[in-house]
Amino acid sequence: AEGIVIAIDGPSGSGKSSTAKGVARVRELRYLDTGAMYRAMTWWMIEHQVDVDDAAAVADAASRPVITMGTDPNAPTVQVDGSDVARAIRGQAVTENVSAVSAVPAVRSLLVRQQRDIIASACAETAGIVVEGRDITTVVAPDAAVKVYLTASAEARAQRRSSEVSATDVAATQADLARRDLLDSSRAASPLTQTPDAMELDSTGLGLKEVVALVVKLVDDAP
Ligand code: C5P
Repeated sequence: AEGIVIAIDGPSGSGKSSTAKGVARVRELRYLDTGAMYRAMTWWMIEHQVDVDDAAAVADAASRPVITMGTDPNAPTVQVDGSDVARAIRGQAVTENVSAVSAVPAVRSLLVRQQRDIIASACAETAGIVVEGRDITTVVAPDAAVKVYLTASAEARAQRRSSEVSATDVAATQADLARRDLLDSSRAASPLTQTPDAMELDSTGLGLKEVVALVVKLVDDAP
């Protein structure tokens, strides 16, 4: 049987990663963090001294890094040219520059193709996959059986992200999230957008278990 695809989009800090991983564990599905792929691409550009604000240079180099994703929700991995970059891609330099790199159309077309390949293998070989990002419901997997747009108030998102990275300055974190969200929603190439056919789920004031349970219910009710 063909595996199921669950697509989750939303702004930074809305709880996409924790929710997607949780749903994948509960229903024994694969898990793909597409943001980690844009971060891995950005990490490689910085390592190789490509000027990330030079879209032509980024486009030229985009096919050089080999990005490999492990999709086990209990131990997801991300490698660039065979090296584990899971920690490195969460650093400040990557976070500050990832929106610029991910706005380059050549980067997006390469990574979207790779994401679709990962989804196709997961559906052929397993019960399916939960995929999270900014353009999954709109571009990567518009035919997904379950589509969720996960939101939370700006304050709740900044609180969550601050505790994740153990930052003490919640106001600075909120400013960084606002900056990235503006860039991600206003870019020309597949911006973060909420479509009417994605179920909106506001996680403000909800615990992770509750949000996971709500999405699992959508999965169980899917045709
Ligand atoms: O999800 P995360 O915050 O790690 O994503 C990092 C960045 O990657 C986002 O701010 C966005 O610029 C980019 N991204 C994207 N499309 C996706 C996932 C992430 O452009 N599907």
